[in-house]
Amino acid sequence: MNKIVILFCAVFLTELVNAAPSAPDSVFLFSYTSGAHNHSVGLQFAWSQNGEDWHLIGNDFGFVRSDYGRWGSEKKMYDPFLYRDRQAVWRCFWTLNDHDNVFAQASSNDLIQWGRQYYPETTLGKTVTVLAVRRETNNQYAIDYKDSAGEYFVASTSDFKTYNFKKSPIVADSRKEVSINGAVLRGQIHRVAWSEVNALLQHVEIVQARHKLYRENSSMYGTLFPDLKTVTGSISLEPNRRKEISDLLVGVFFEDINYAADGGLYAELIQNRDFEYSLSDREGRDKSWNAMHSWSSTGGVNVIIDTTHYIHINNKHHALVNVGSAGALRNTGFDGIVLRKGQTYEFSCFSKLMNGKVVQANVKLVRPNGEVLATQKLSVSTVKWKQQSLVLKATADEDKASFEIEFTTPGVVALDMISVFPQNTFKGRKNGLRADLANVIADLHPRFIRFPGGCVAHGDGVHNIYHWKNTIGPLEARKPQRNLWGYHQTAGLGYLEYFQFCEDVGAEPVPVVAAGVPCQNSVGGQQGGIPESEMDSYVQDILDLIEFANGDGKTTWGKKRIALGHPKPFNLKYIGIGNEDLITDVFEARFVKIHEAVKRKYPDITVIGTVGPFYQGTDYVEGWKLADQLRLEMVDEHYYESPGWFIYNQDFYDRYDRSKSKVYLGEYASHLPGRPNNLETALSEAIYLTALERNGDVVTMASYAPLLAKEGHTQWNPDMIYFNNQSVTTTPGYEVQRMFSVHGGNEYISSNTVIDHRDNAVMKRIGTSVVYDRKTGDVIIKVVNLLPVQCDLKINLNELLMGEVPAKLITLTGEPGEKNLRPQEKDIRLSRDRVYAFPPYSLSVIRYRTSVVNK
Ligand code: AHR
Repeated sequence: MNKIVILFCAVFLTELVNAAPSAPDSVFLFSYTSGAHNHSVGLQFAWSQNGEDWHLIGNDFGFVRSDYGRWGSEKKMYDPFLYRDRQAVWRCFWTLNDHDNVFAQASSNDLIQWGRQYYPETTLGKTVTVLAVRRETNNQYAIDYKDSAGEYFVASTSDFKTYNFKKSPIVADSRKEVSINGAVLRGQIHRVAWSEVNALLQHVEIVQARHKLYRENSSMYGTLFPDLKTVTGSISLEPNRRKEISDLLVGVFFEDINYAADGGLYAELIQNRDFEYSLSDREGRDKSWNAMHSWSSTGGVNVIIDTTHYIHINNKHHALVNVGSAGALRNTGFDGIVLRKGQTYEFSCFSKLMNGKVVQANVKLVRPNGEVLATQKLSVSTVKWKQQSLVLKATADEDKASFEIEFTTPGVVALDMISVFPQNTFKGRKNGLRADLANVIADLHPRFIRFPGGCVAHGDGVHNIYHWKNTIGPLEARKPQRNLWGYHQTAGLGYLEYFQFCEDVGAEPVPVVAAGVPCQNSVGGQQGGIPESEMDSYVQDILDLIEFANGDGKTTWGKKRIALGHPKPFNLKYIGIGNEDLITDVFEARFVKIHEAVKRKYPDITVIGTVGPFYQGTDYVEGWKLADQLRLEMVDEHYYESPGWFIYNQDFYDRYDRSKSKVYLGEYASHLPGRPNNLETALSEAIYLTALERNGDVVTMASYAPLLAKEGHTQWNPDMIYFNNQSVTTTPGYEVQRMFSVHGGNEYISSNTVIDHRDNAVMKRIGTSVVYDRKTGDVIIKVVNLLPVQCDLKINLNELLMGEVPAKLITLTGEPGEKNLRPQEKDIRLSRDRVYAFPPYSLSVIRYRTSVVNK
């Protein structure tokens, strides 16, 4: 059943049931949580006519779920208490955990769509259970609660946001026990209109029917399409119905997740070069993750980590190396160091004598068996920190080399920022990017690059927010920090390098900064926010970022950029404020402040707001409300969904109001169980991309996420590009992105696609779009066939082709589970009304030059 049919059924059923003369006026509604899924199921309902025989509303169906704390370990709801206030607004209170002095509250008019969640701090009582809510005066409510120590309190409020607390006498808990399907559940009983319960039942039905559609995948196609034979149809181009679309549609989302930066795109070969690794990077879970990680010493060399003689306060840890007799300090790189015969590697380090005696050493790149593949002499002779560098040339290939400083004379030296960098970086830049990886990204021809995240941008707690100023300037002065994905960020790949990369690949830079709040899933509780007293300085940092990117030599930050070797401005046009944040009052206050300041000083910069991590739900609704209120130019949407979702939601943006904010679809990807990136996921993204092209007047940019993943260090799947130290593997998803990026256009040409088949599941698996690229004068037709059978389409080019022309046909096809595929390109002759065969499971691009598109 398709979505339209479901909606039709739902409407029909509503009419039927509402109109049914036999329906009761009112029934009992039981509100409770069963504690299913480790207490994450949220608020559940059952209904009854007589208060004895109960019917579940959905099976384990949560109408509002807690969003407090970390994924996995938190986001739990205990003891919900539901109250209907004077304005008939439902207020739900619940207990969160046994360690934070907070409880939760959210409200709803219909028990289906819930507003922002509030987590007020209780100044009295711990692990609070709400027992009763009373209306004291017109607008004043008293919330009776008890705590885990059995003490009773009352909290008064008029807005359900701020509360006054005091002790109170014992209050009885009005919850009742009811038995449903053999389980005894504790909750409240309310008397409500049947229409309210009916609406809940219909909601569950629609959600479940949709989920059934969204779960469809190619493993079910035998049953879904048992007798399907070649599907036929036609595409008729309508050259007179054209519209301008974004020419920035396909770009990339870069985040330091899965070792994408350190150990990945950032070409540094020494791991923990600054001795700043710390147990806290991995929340204490890995005892070996300390300042000596990846380092060891041999022979008569003894190393301790010191923080007293630092080169820069941002980088306090350094090695104090005491050489008694011959021995070495060794680093194993990121899973070994890859060397290529004849290639040169720049060694550099800061060193300082600690006891006045000159120390001699050899720096070496060695094979696991000890064979030396490159060596140079190093002498430590200064009592002040001094940076030295040497060039090492590899005499052979090796995938698992390590780096050594072999000491040949005794003494005590301090060492820090020990680096080995390939000289062959992307575009030969110093402190640059790993060439093979950067080239694969450049081959995508991304129209924009978003950086530095993702969650990395807003960070794990206020102290982990990514501050761009900490990432520019001399490497030893940059501020390394914990990466919320469980490792370490050196900040070696910082804002200057990001901007430079954008420039090098011809992509618009799209930096995303925190909206003054960290990730809602932060360690130790809720979102929090930069204190009000520090917000002015934070806002100034964001203004300074724009000045750094665009300012001239007369501006403070423009001057800094010039001093860092980039005289030309980067021509920044977009800035993202926030990353899929929980839309709370804390968020809103900070976002509004930043937005106002940026627009006041830089009216031409497009501020991109954020509307939560999903395509629906509270943050999406609240984020859009705020966007409407502030008349934001653009919002950032995120969703990771199943292939079925992408197949059945091709009209998602067709429904968007053209007068509202534009959309940057900043993170999306198709997820199958097991999280592969295969042809099936890629084609579902392709079908969605045809819809994005059609909606290119609303959707300005879109980026698949995440971009990179290092084998063996992957926190998130699927990703677009996988790599290890030696090689880079692209995915079908990469090929799809590339085909849409390279074959993008700036005008959308309407077309009428007719599939000669009545089954919606068949029709939805054929996607088409036609764009015109003014720069080349090419018309580009894309056809996605996600069916297990061939699709023969007659392409009616109408006035867009007189006679016959040469064209290119590029096809990506294979079995749905295939992961290693490349598109095939061939020359074809294109004529006006011919039938073309599109293979099962394929994306095809037909591209030809025309002189008949007039402006
Ligand atoms: O893309 C991976 C993560 O997904 C991003 O960091 C975050 O924004 C989203 O939840």
